[in-house]
Amino acid sequence: MDNKKFTVSSFKESKEQGKKISMLTAYDYSMAKLLDESGVDSILVGDSLGMVMLGYEDTLPVTVEDVIHHTRAVTRGTKNALVVADMPFMSYHLSVEQSVYNAGRMIQEGFAQAVKLEGGEIVAAKVKAIVEAQIPVMGHLGLTPQSVNAFGGFKVQGKSQDQATKILEDALILQDAGAFAIVLECVPEKLAKIITERLSIPTIGIGAGKYCDGQILVVQDMLGMFKDFVPKFVKQYAQTGEIMKNAVKQYREEIQEGAFPAAEHTFMIDDEVLKKLY
Ligand code: KIV
Repeated sequence: MDNKKFTVSSFKESKEQGKKISMLTAYDYSMAKLLDESGVDSILVGDSLGMVMLGYEDTLPVTVEDVIHHTRAVTRGTKNALVVADMPFMSYHLSVEQSVYNAGRMIQEGFAQAVKLEGGEIVAAKVKAIVEAQIPVMGHLGLTPQSVNAFGGFKVQGKSQDQATKILEDALILQDAGAFAIVLECVPEKLAKIITERLSIPTIGIGAGKYCDGQILVVQDMLGMFKDFVPKFVKQYAQTGEIMKNAVKQYREEIQEGAFPAAEHTFMIDDEVLKKLY
């Protein structure tokens, strides 16, 4: 691992050099620090924070303030990874001006280096305007969770001819609008392969198979910390949730048994000082 800042240019260079890009989500300082020290290329402060950090059923209640709050914590813990802040539902849906304003807040108040927003042709003018404001934009196509009500649930996208054609067209439109990378979520592997081959910007897959230029997962999913719902595309690299629960059980037992705190966790005082208290 080289200790070099990963930038939006590194995304393009990685694709050109055939180097796969690693991304994970993070929402707080200590997790961001761990990921950054582990050498992950880029961290997304995803609106998935609504589900894994705030306990909502979907991402729709997440606000600009929520994302800024978590992005500030993540950027404080990150040296090398590129931090991308997710634009939440309704933060870019009203107008081009509103989109540029809220993207600007992610940079000025959250200290993110880029923003991500969902959709293709329908958000192209907004992507273009944000890019013209010198804010790098990551696109997001396929199963875009902010459209869960319009999709009628969290379903794989792009299986039919019409959907596959639309996702490919949308990817090319986002590239033309100036996006520096595109997340492809829950689309068939062979469709993601064609899109990846057609684009000069990198694709970042989540449930989109191995041909994407990079991969992203929600960190609590891949660490086995969040079990409310485990999608098919998640690989659990560790059972951290079990490790944490066992540690907490042991802590509780040791308190009850008087085994914690031990001498090494305790501050001493000179007996002479104590004597004067009696
Ligand atoms: O919000 C999020 O975490 C995301 C990723 C899953 C791509 O958008």
